[in-house]
Amino acid sequence: MTRLDSAIRRLQAQRACLDYACRLIADRPGPVIELGLGNGRTYDHLRARLPGRDIYAFDRQIAAHPDCIPDEAHMFLGDFTTTLPEAARSLGPTAVLAHCDVGSGDADANAALADMLSRLLPGLLGPGAVMICDQDIRISGATDMSLPDGVSPGRYFLRTAPH
Ligand SMILES: C[S@@+](CC[C@H](N)C(=O)[O-])C[C@H]1O[C@@H](n2cnc3c(N)ncnc32)[C@H](O)[C@@H]1O
Repeated sequence: MTRLDSAIRRLQAQRACLDYACRLIADRPGPVIELGLGNGRTYDHLRARLPGRDIYAFDRQIAAHPDCIPDEAHMFLGDFTTTLPEAARSLGPTAVLAHCDVGSGDADANAALADMLSRLLPGLLGPGAVMICDQDIRISGATDMSLPDGVSPGRYFLRTAPH
């Protein structure tokens, strides 16, 4: 598989997981959290699939396409170590969907990030919240879910938070 093939598969898997998760939570109230705004691609996809839903984005910087920048009230700007506790204080454990797209090409940094998020994310997750993650973020009591058709295990992680 070429690097181009791999990049295409990763994006297809990401879109399949996002679409699946949006269908799962369609009738459930609660905000969505998007960790890793990046250039705003997945934020844009989520807001198109979930019109009217509060979507809170997190990143240490704004580097998104100008059309894909949340308003100030829906943007937590800074390192996750600061913004996740801040968001947990203001939103509480209410999120119905968390999408974590936080990885880089550095495997050690990804592992450290996953470890940090496994401790900080629960403060924001509502009961049974759906988590879709590009990293293996292990939340105590969370249950693995089957991935949508065509998504290879390990490419994306789909779990539900404890009830
Ligand atoms: C893969 S990119 C996100 C891509 C984005 N979802 C998209 O579709 O355009 C990962 C993002 O996570 C952010 N990030 C990684 N670690 C972070 C941290 N500790 N605190 C805040 N943001 C972080 C990076 O700044 C980067 O923008």
